[in-house]
Amino acid sequence: MRPEPRPLLLLLASHALLLLCLAPRCQAVQAENVTVLEGGTAEISCRLQNYDGSIVVIQNPRRQTLFFNGTRALKDDRFQMVLFTPRLVRITLTNVSVSDEGGYFCQLYTDATHHQVATLSVSVPPETPTIEVKQEAVEGAEVELTCLSPRSKPPATLRWIRDRREIPGVVSQQDNGKTVSVSNTIRLPVERKDNGAAISCEASHPALGGQKRIRHYRLDVHFAPTVRIIPPPGILREGDSLSLTCSVTGNPLPRNVLWSRINDTIPERAEFSGPTLQMSRLSQTHNGTYLCQAQNNYGRAADHYTLLVYDPGAVVETHSAMPYAVIGGILALLVFTVICVLIITIWCSVRQKGSYLTHEASGLDEHGEVQEAFLNGNDVAQGKKEYLL
Ligand SMILES: *[C@@H]1O[C@H](CO)[C@@H](O)[C@H](O)[C@H]1NC(C)=O
Ligand SMILES: *[C@@H]1O[C@H](CO)[C@@H](O)[C@H](O)[C@H]1NC(C)=O
Ligand SMILES: *[C@@H]1O[C@H](CO)[C@@H](O)[C@H](O)[C@H]1NC(C)=O
Ligand SMILES: *[C@@H]1O[C@H](CO)[C@@H](O)[C@H](O)[C@H]1NC(C)=O
Ligand SMILES: *[C@@H]1O[C@H](CO)[C@@H](O)[C@H](O)[C@H]1NC(C)=O
Repeated sequence: MRPEPRPLLLLLASHALLLLCLAPRCQAVQAENVTVLEGGTAEISCRLQNYDGSIVVIQNPRRQTLFFNGTRALKDDRFQMVLFTPRLVRITLTNVSVSDEGGYFCQLYTDATHHQVATLSVSVPPETPTIEVKQEAVEGAEVELTCLSPRSKPPATLRWIRDRREIPGVVSQQDNGKTVSVSNTIRLPVERKDNGAAISCEASHPALGGQKRIRHYRLDVHFAPTVRIIPPPGILREGDSLSLTCSVTGNPLPRNVLWSRINDTIPERAEFSGPTLQMSRLSQTHNGTYLCQAQNNYGRAADHYTLLVYDPGAVVETHSAMPYAVIGGILALLVFTVICVLIITIWCSVRQKGSYLTHEASGLDEHGEVQEAFLNGNDVAQGKKEYLL
C-alpha cells in the first residue's frame, strides 16, 4: 500500500468541476442497497455522476478504508475491486457473513465530500430444523414435540404438519446476536393408533423461495401389549397335532411370550418356537386351559384357549351334525322359493283382473275414483288369495 499524499491536492483540484453540479438533488455518487445470502458474494456498486477523476474511497461499516481510488487498503482478500469506470465503481465481497452487515460508504473527495451508503443485508436461510421430544409418548397421555431452527435471519417460519394440515403450536424466538433461533412446540394427545404416524416440521424462509426445509418424524407411542391366541380350525381328535400361535402387539413389542396351563403343567412333549406352542399326538390328558401372557413396561396381557380333545367316535358325531345343518338350510331355502313363486303367481293373476277393472274405471273423470277402482281391485286380489291358500 503506497502512501497517498495527493488526496488533499486533488480534492482542491476537483473543486471547480464539482461546482457545475449546482442543483441540490444532483448527486455525484449513488449507492445501492444489497441483500445477499450468507456465504454468497455481495456486489457493492457506487454510481458516479460527472466524474472528474477525483478520489473514490470505499469504506466498510467500521469506517475502515477498503479501497482508495482503486487501490486495496485493507488486507482482506474477500474484497475485490471488479470495476472502476467514470460511471461505476464496483467491489465484490465473497463468503459474506452476518458480521459483514452494515453500511458501506462510497465517498467522492471533491470540494465537499459526497458520500452515499450502500446497506449490505445478509440473509441466513434456516437449516433443516431438528425435533426434540420432551419425554417418551405413552398412549392416553400427551406428547410434547419441539421443532427447532437454531439460526436464521430474518426469522424462519416453522410449521407442524400432519396429514397435510397444520397443527398450531407455540412459537418462540430468541435473538442470538445477528441471527434468530426459532422454536415451535406442540402438545398432542396420543393413542396407540398414532404409533408410527408421520408428522413433519417445515421451515420456510424468504431466502428459500417457495421451498421448505422439512424434518420428518414418526410418532413412537408406547403402549401395553395385547395378546390373542389364534385357535386351530375345526375340532381336535386324539392323535392330532396342535399348533397354537400367540399373536402379540405392544410398543415395545414384548420380547417373549409365556405359555402356561391353568391348574396344571404344560404337557411334556410340548414344544415352543417363538410365540407358538406345538403339541403332537394329542390325547385327552391334554384337555385344559392354556394361557399365553406377554408384558412390557406399560402393562401385561393374557389370552386363553380351552383345549378339548375328542375321541374318534365323538368326532364322527360332531362331523355329521354339519350336513344336517346344511340340509336344513337347503330345505328352508326351498320352502322360501316355493312361497315366493306362489306370491308372484297370485300377483300376476290379480294384475290381470286389476287391469280389467282399470279399463272399466278409465271411463271415470276423477283420479280419486280411479284409485278407488284400483283399491277395489286389491280387495278382490285379497279375496282371491284367501281362496287360493
Ligand atoms: C438502504 O437501506 C437503508 C438502511 O436499511 C435505508 O435507510 C435506505 O433507505 C435504503 N436505501 C434504498 C435506496 O433503499
Ligand atoms: C482515481 O482512479 C481513476 C480510475 O482509475 C482515475 O481515472 C483517476 O485519475 C484517479 N484519481 C486520482 C486522483 O488518482
Ligand atoms: C467463509 O467464512 C466462514 C466464517 O465466516 C469460514 O468458516 C469459512 O471457512 C469460509 N469459507 C470459505 C470458502 O472461505
Ligand atoms: C383351578 O383350580 C381352582 C381351585 O382348585 C378352581 O377354582 C378353578 O376353577 C380352576 N380353574 C380352571 C380353569 O380349571
Ligand atoms: C376331554 O374333552 C373331551 C371333549 O369335551 C371330553 O369328551 C373328554 O372326556 C375330556 N377328557 C378328559 C380326560 O377330561
